[in-house]
Amino acid sequence: MPKTWWEREAIVYQVWPASFADSNNDGFGDIPGIISKLDHINSLGANTLWVSPHYASPRIDEGYDISDYKAVYPPFGTMEDTERLIRECHQRGLKIIFDLVINHTSDQHAWFKASRSSKSNPKRDWYIWRPAKYDDKGNMLPPNNWRSYFNESAWTWDEHTQEYYLHLFCKEQPDLNWTCEDARKQIYQDAIIFWLEKGINGFRVDTVNMYSKPMDFPDAEVTDSDNPYQPAHSLFCNGPEMPKYLREISAIFDKYDAMTVGELPSTPDFKQVLRYIDPNDPQLSMVFSFDHVSLDRGEGQHFYLRSWKLPELKNAIAHMQTFVRNSSPPAIAATYLENHDQPRSISRFCPAAQTPEETKRAGKMLAMFQTAMSGAQFIYQGQEIGMTNFPDTWGPHEYKDVDSLNYYNYVVAHSGDDTSKPGEVLKKINRIARDNARTPVQWSSAQPYAGFMAPSQGGEGKQLHKPWMRINDNYKDGINVEDQVHDPDSVLAFWKQAIAMRQARPALFVHGTYEPLDHENQHTFSFLKRAEDGKGTVAYIVLNFSEKQQTFTLPTELQGRKVELLMGTQQKVHLQEHRLGGYEGRIYVAS
Ligand code: NOJ
Repeated sequence: MPKTWWEREAIVYQVWPASFADSNNDGFGDIPGIISKLDHINSLGANTLWVSPHYASPRIDEGYDISDYKAVYPPFGTMEDTERLIRECHQRGLKIIFDLVINHTSDQHAWFKASRSSKSNPKRDWYIWRPAKYDDKGNMLPPNNWRSYFNESAWTWDEHTQEYYLHLFCKEQPDLNWTCEDARKQIYQDAIIFWLEKGINGFRVDTVNMYSKPMDFPDAEVTDSDNPYQPAHSLFCNGPEMPKYLREISAIFDKYDAMTVGELPSTPDFKQVLRYIDPNDPQLSMVFSFDHVSLDRGEGQHFYLRSWKLPELKNAIAHMQTFVRNSSPPAIAATYLENHDQPRSISRFCPAAQTPEETKRAGKMLAMFQTAMSGAQFIYQGQEIGMTNFPDTWGPHEYKDVDSLNYYNYVVAHSGDDTSKPGEVLKKINRIARDNARTPVQWSSAQPYAGFMAPSQGGEGKQLHKPWMRINDNYKDGINVEDQVHDPDSVLAFWKQAIAMRQARPALFVHGTYEPLDHENQHTFSFLKRAEDGKGTVAYIVLNFSEKQQTFTLPTELQGRKVELLMGTQQKVHLQEHRLGGYEGRIYVAS
């Protein structure tokens, strides 16, 4: 029997504060805005709230560059607001987790300011500093050829102290030196204990596998000869000291009965993943793996696209659902289709769904897909109403993410006379840009700015503020909370039913085993869920990922048994009719 609250039932709803709900109409979402929508989150059936970084930050990487772990970003509210958020969650029976970003800080953090002030500063060693290298002609080079995640060198030269510092992300996000024990102690105190003492129930742990780096910093193999800097994930992910560091942290978490979900990029080997979450010696409660959200990414630059077919998605999902069974007892899968780093799932997994009717059907089908999977569920704001990517006709000024903009600017700088290239590349960027997840949540079709904020008038009737990011116009086409709350056929209504269905049958849907079927089928995705309830209960889930009609056959195992249609995405379905409309999904149960 699962012991902890997160093993039993976690349905986590992720809020990205800047774009969730703006209570003071300054164009940015805020903590009072989150509090005002807790009833919405509760009504969905979620039982845990994950708040993406709300800390003091210059927001070069939208809050993943923290300048003070113990302070709140002023436009989001105050410490009192945050404490109230924790209380209000608990009063509603919601757990609350925060983001833990401790691979790096902002360059505006007092620790880094001290570290860069002189080579002899006691905090010099809290970050990673190295001297320059020189080529044969005496040109100065960074200490190695690593590329940062945002398409620059992973090293930046500091004029003042004449050394380079390492940053795996932006140059404004220097990496902390985890080999320094004093630094580790202070990180634990400020970033972890401070918030656990305020009563939060755990953390989503950012880039959790990068704390331990090879301190001799070898060059990465050259795999992209067009770029002076090379991807080096295999060198800086999952280093040898990771277990030591994570055990130090998990000892703290255990004291507070806190859950952790680690972000685990660039770790395809399931044995390596399992080491982090094996219940016999867990370093983390669970981890996000990346297989299914990497399908459309090519090698080299991460904005290179590749086309993929449904069987590849089946492989990725089967991997995510089954690798956790390689420990005894099984570890917990962290199931997600969206978050703040991913494009919207309808646009990504059902790209042919274009009309409001099609996106609605696809949204429901994907809700069924996700909620039928085992493990903890992570739902991202707006997913519950079927928000989609924004149009690829929006210009570069609508993109705010440093990731998209660095790449776009790099292409502009390298396009020479080819004026069509930046425009073409922008269309590609649009397909997988993180910006897609960051447009404001669409609350209403009747109110200005989709109800995300209200207009605020300055002198002479002048508009004072606008949403910090453009709102997707399709809020007028039914993709908004207000219209869907009253519509029993909406994506939102379906998410609620699907979550309730799952929670009512935990043996099948939360803890059941996953068995893939019909692997080669390019249009329908089907699988079995088997309950370990001693009664042989089996669910058959069949999902049409295409816009065309598809037929299916009940698996032999279900034939001749008492089979009930547990749930369908379409309202009128005949049990015996084994034909699915475009983006239709069904769940049959045999007991
Ligand atoms: C992963 C976060 O999810 C992403 O948004 C951020 O840019 C990087 N880590 C750096 O913290």
